[in-house]
Amino acid sequence: MNPFILTSYHSPEHFCDRENETERLLSAINNNRNVALISKRRMGKTGLLMHLERQLAMQKEQQFVYFDVLSASSLQDFVNLFANALFKSNNRNFEKLFKSFSKIFSAFKPSFSINPITGETKFNLDISNISESESSLTAIFNYIQKINKKFVIAIDEFQQITSFSENNTEALLRSHIQHINNAVFIFSGSSRKILGEMFSDKNRAFYMSSEIMYLDKIDRNSYSEFILKHFTKGNFKISENSTYFLLDLVKTHTYYVQLLCNRLYSQKKKEITEIVIAEVLSKILEENKFYFESYRKILTNFQWKVVQSIAFEGEVAEPTSKDFIEKHHLGSSSSVSTAFKSLEEKEIISFENSKYVLQDLLFSFWLSSK
Ligand SMILES: Nc1ncnc2c1ncn2[C@@H]1O[C@H](COP(=O)(O)OP(=O)(O)OP(=O)(O)O)[C@@H](O)[C@H]1O
Ligand SMILES: [Mg+2]
Repeated sequence: MNPFILTSYHSPEHFCDRENETERLLSAINNNRNVALISKRRMGKTGLLMHLERQLAMQKEQQFVYFDVLSASSLQDFVNLFANALFKSNNRNFEKLFKSFSKIFSAFKPSFSINPITGETKFNLDISNISESESSLTAIFNYIQKINKKFVIAIDEFQQITSFSENNTEALLRSHIQHINNAVFIFSGSSRKILGEMFSDKNRAFYMSSEIMYLDKIDRNSYSEFILKHFTKGNFKISENSTYFLLDLVKTHTYYVQLLCNRLYSQKKKEITEIVIAEVLSKILEENKFYFESYRKILTNFQWKVVQSIAFEGEVAEPTSKDFIEKHHLGSSSSVSTAFKSLEEKEIISFENSKYVLQDLLFSFWLSSK
């Protein structure tokens, strides 16, 4: 089996480090502090949550409920995802559980379906209007409150709730969360801008409700050791220096490190030199060119030009500076700042360490290599 996993989580053996981060989450849970877990895309939030679930499962004291709300566009969708996750997190006898859930949610015609393609089971509530969405959410919180157990509820891609059709979701959720005393929440997401504002703006419902935890890169030395260990186990030859070369090449950004290692592991050459690493990276860029080109469709011509300029520079500290604008012939500073704002909202670029960078590292490499 290829030890470099590209889907969210496999086992502690295939998960690198994150010891401090896991400790920090466990301490927040044990001390009843909610956490807002924020990082760049593909840095490892979901993986960390799955790893946390493993650790909690060993303790057997808490019930871990995880759901991802990226696909939700209304409170109704949110409630359904929540109810489904709650149902699945329970390892009681299926029939008994279904009966008890049917009773609690009897007003919302609960049903159970099996996806014929994936075989995945799904618990579903029939909610038809806003007031039903709100009362079913109340039913969920009442259910949790009544159970004599501590719950850890992780809501992934939490920024999504700001785009729901109802505009009171934040306040509604906050009031439920404030009143429940046997659940700790982890709100996870990648939009530093949206989530940062949600949790640190005085006028927002979630202000000061959670400890903010920014998930950074994995420690370089731990990652180097991890890479060395797995390649050696698979009878590959790689030097410590080459592992650092690989890490630097993709800026120790978790997903890209995993992708590169996964591909190196699946090729025939057993000796992994810096040349082999660079070759595999350029192969990946070549294979993804249609995907990169598809960015063009979601950007205006001007935004595309701005994105190319950012890729050329690698990072941009002052987008409206004369130097940057003149060097790339971008015209007026107001249109440049509008483009940056919109690219940030679309999560194409992000602002970190006082600089703008493209979120998708491979896209950035591809653009700058043209
Ligand atoms: N500590 C780790 N060790 C090894 N691989 C990891 C680790 N953390 C995450 N990964 C891998 O890196 C990739 C990206 O991680 P993950 O999906 O958790 O990121 P994310 O921050 O949730 O991304 P997104 O913002 O896109 O949801 C996945 O393929 C995952 O398997
Ligand atoms: Mg994720």
